[in-house]
Amino acid sequence: MKISFYLNRDLVHADVDPHLTTLVYLRESRGLTGVKESCNEGDCGACVIALGERTEQGMCYHAVNSCLYPVVRLHGKHVVTLEGIHDADELHPLQAAMENEHGAQCGFCTSGIILSLFCLFLRNATPANEDILQALDGSLCRCTGYASILRAARSVAAQVRMDEDIENHLTPAYFSGIPERLDSIDELIDENRKLAVAARDYFIPEDLHELFEILENVDNPSKLTLISGDTDIMVGVNLGKFQPQKIVDLHRIREFTCISRDNGLITIGARATLSDVLDNEEVRRSFPALTEAVRQMCSTPIRNVATLVGNVCTASPIADAIPPLLAYGATVVVQSIKGTRQVPLRDWFKSYRKTALGHDEVVVAIEIPIIDCLASFEKTGKRKTLDIATVNSALAVQVMKGHFETVRLFFGGVAAVPFEAEMTSEFLTGKEAGEAVIYEASRIAAKEISPLSDVRGSLEFRRQLAANHIIKHFTKLMPSLFE
Ligand SMILES: Cc1cc2nc3c(=O)[nH]c(=O)nc-3n(C[C@H](O)[C@H](O)[C@H](O)COP(=O)(O)OP(=O)(O)OC[C@H]3O[C@@H](n4cnc5c(N)ncnc54)[C@H](O)[C@@H]3O)c2cc1C
Ligand code: FES
Ligand code: FES
Repeated sequence: MKISFYLNRDLVHADVDPHLTTLVYLRESRGLTGVKESCNEGDCGACVIALGERTEQGMCYHAVNSCLYPVVRLHGKHVVTLEGIHDADELHPLQAAMENEHGAQCGFCTSGIILSLFCLFLRNATPANEDILQALDGSLCRCTGYASILRAARSVAAQVRMDEDIENHLTPAYFSGIPERLDSIDELIDENRKLAVAARDYFIPEDLHELFEILENVDNPSKLTLISGDTDIMVGVNLGKFQPQKIVDLHRIREFTCISRDNGLITIGARATLSDVLDNEEVRRSFPALTEAVRQMCSTPIRNVATLVGNVCTASPIADAIPPLLAYGATVVVQSIKGTRQVPLRDWFKSYRKTALGHDEVVVAIEIPIIDCLASFEKTGKRKTLDIATVNSALAVQVMKGHFETVRLFFGGVAAVPFEAEMTSEFLTGKEAGEAVIYEASRIAAKEISPLSDVRGSLEFRRQLAANHIIKHFTKLMPSLFE
């Protein structure tokens, strides 16, 4: 498949195998060994690159794990690797600071760390400590040089505060011409175009019409794999656990929307990444428990690519966005050539990782009604970031004069599909909020679930976690319950 993009300073026209990852392409075809390969599953950040795209607000650069990023998606973008962040022989201020503060020890993680910080500094030249920590949440330094790495990042922010001139040195001079040069790149074209841009069983439909043609005409629809951010699917492929036969890459579907608000609903379209959800003011205001779940998901480079719709479609029993979406009463909007249908999220999960999606359908959005409720999300994993949950849960309650009017409580990690704790919710409904009631609810929740024991936790441990989550939810919500 023929693609064109800017790689650091140079325009590249390449005929690529669409099944390749960007990491393999950059290292093996372009000889850019500053991009490191390590875990190959998004867990370490050694392979992070900066990916620039034109947006209405100008160029926008995001840190991305190149080990999970299909190379065909580079078309029309600006790819920046360690080799492209500085002018001529000068070190970039971040590189100089890493050297001065001894932030690079074995150096294997250093390239990804610098690229993650580079993207942060392009957005915010004087980041606060928490911004720096968040930008580095996808980077693992095996030599545990974290203190020196943080000092290096802080020292660049401090230099910019003292001398604004240095801000000009954060971006190499050649960056200024990139937007116009990207404009001259044509649309993705395939001379053999029949259904969509396609090569080697990799289809890139441009709109829903092309997508439905593929879904209708393909010989064996069960052999098709739809991908959005590809963060879930690509891990399986890289680990050799899953070999998709035909891929339909949804990233260019022009009808897919991002996030909008209308008629008492917030619609999160199939285009919206987890970062879009996290940064959205309306979502934060109306659905704080969803924002909290997304904040605790994955890492910055994964959230920059993974979609909320993808998380719902994985139907993973530990997917973090699902319990809050269930608690808020979300609906899945599904479309096929026959039209659109709406599936309440609570009816979406059929069995372990199986959903109500038909072979000829695609999810176009998640709709969430804006209701007046108090809600909370809890997740217990082994680490704060880059870890899947042992148990997660979300609670949404409506309270009238100190009494629970409605209660919706959902757990992940306790059954093959996300689990509604109906007995606990029923017990709480109509009760007056108070310590004894909450402790009794936590005992009911622990009894109500029958989780499996596995490497992440035994049945007893998960029951205890479920009970603890109830107490944590109400401890958090307690001040608001009596307002
Ligand atoms: C390092 C790492 C850390 C992670 N951490 C977390 C975590 O903390 N919590 C968590 O919940 N998840 C986590 N994940 C899993 C994953 O990133 C999320 O589930 C993500 O939201 C998936 O979105 P995606 O767009 O990448 O989905 P994809 O990988 O593109 O697709 C996922 C599934 O959804 C289907 N699909 C995608 N889009 C559509 C559509 N529009 N219509 C129909 N079907 C569709 C695909 O066919 C596939 O079955 C992690 C993954 C990695 C690699
Ligand atoms: S190689 Fe570890 S995140 Fe890509
Ligand atoms: S410096 Fe050694 S892994 Fe980070």
